[in-house]
Amino acid sequence: MVISICTEKGGSGKTTIAINVAVKLGLLEEDTLLIDADPQRSVEVFTDIRARENIELTFNTVAKFGSSLAKEILSLKTKYDAIIIDTGGRDSEEMRQALAVSDIVIIPIVPSDLDIAVLNKMINLFNQAKAFNPTSKALITISKASPNPFLNKKIEDLRTYINDKNLEDLKLCESIIYEREAYRNAFSQGKGVLEYCKENENAYKDFNNFFDELVQYTNSN
Ligand SMILES: Nc1ncnc2c1ncn2[C@@H]1O[C@H](COP(=O)(O)OP(=O)(O)O)[C@@H](O)[C@H]1O
Ligand SMILES: [Mg+2]
Repeated sequence: MVISICTEKGGSGKTTIAINVAVKLGLLEEDTLLIDADPQRSVEVFTDIRARENIELTFNTVAKFGSSLAKEILSLKTKYDAIIIDTGGRDSEEMRQALAVSDIVIIPIVPSDLDIAVLNKMINLFNQAKAFNPTSKALITISKASPNPFLNKKIEDLRTYINDKNLEDLKLCESIIYEREAYRNAFSQGKGVLEYCKENENAYKDFNNFFDELVQYTNSN
C-alpha cells in the first residue's frame, strides 16, 4: 500500500499527517516506510528529535528526491506493508512521481486558508496521474480546521462544492483534523499525537477517526 500526502499549498499539514499516519501504522506493528520527498526535510527534523528523546523509531524513514522516485517506490513496495510519501509544498517532480504510484493520495486543505484554484489543480493532477495509475483514489482531508463554529459554514460550503463536482475516485473525508496544540507539542517531543495524547483527548479522537476512514476508503472498491 502506497499513501502519499500531496498539495501545492505549503503549511497545510502534509508532514504532520504523514508522520502521524506512520506513527499509527507503527503502533499497529505494520512494517512501514516513511519517505521524505520534500527537500525541506521536515521528517528528518522529527526523527532527529525522536532519536534525541530515546523514543524507538517504529517505522523506517528515507529521504528521496528526483526523477527516479516512482521507480524506487515500485521496487520497495513489496518489502513493506505500507509506504507513506511526504511531498513538498509545490508542484514538484516528486509530487508527480508520488501521484503516479500511490494507491491513496491524501490532499489536505485548510478551510481558513482555502484556495479553490490549488484544490482544482490538485484534482486535475490526480486525474492526469490516473492515466498511468488507474486504480488510485484520493481523499481530500480538512486539515488544521479551527474548532471555531464560525468555520462550520465554510466547511459545509466546501462539502457542497466538492460533492457537486461528482468526482470519480475522489472523496472528501467526513472526519476533520482540527487545529490542536497537541500536534505541535507532540512533534516537538518526537511523538505522534496518538503517543502524546490520552485516548479521551480531542486530537487523539480526531486522528483515530481520520485514520479509520482512511483505512475504510483504502479497502473499499
Ligand atoms: N492539525 C494541526 N493542529 C495544529 N497545528 C498543526 C496541525 N497540522 C499542522 N500543524 C502545524 O502547522 C505547521 C505546518 O504544518 P506541516 O505539517 O509542516 O505542513 P506542510 O508539510 O504541509 O508544510 C507546523 O507548525 C505544524 O506543527
Ligand atoms: Mg512538509
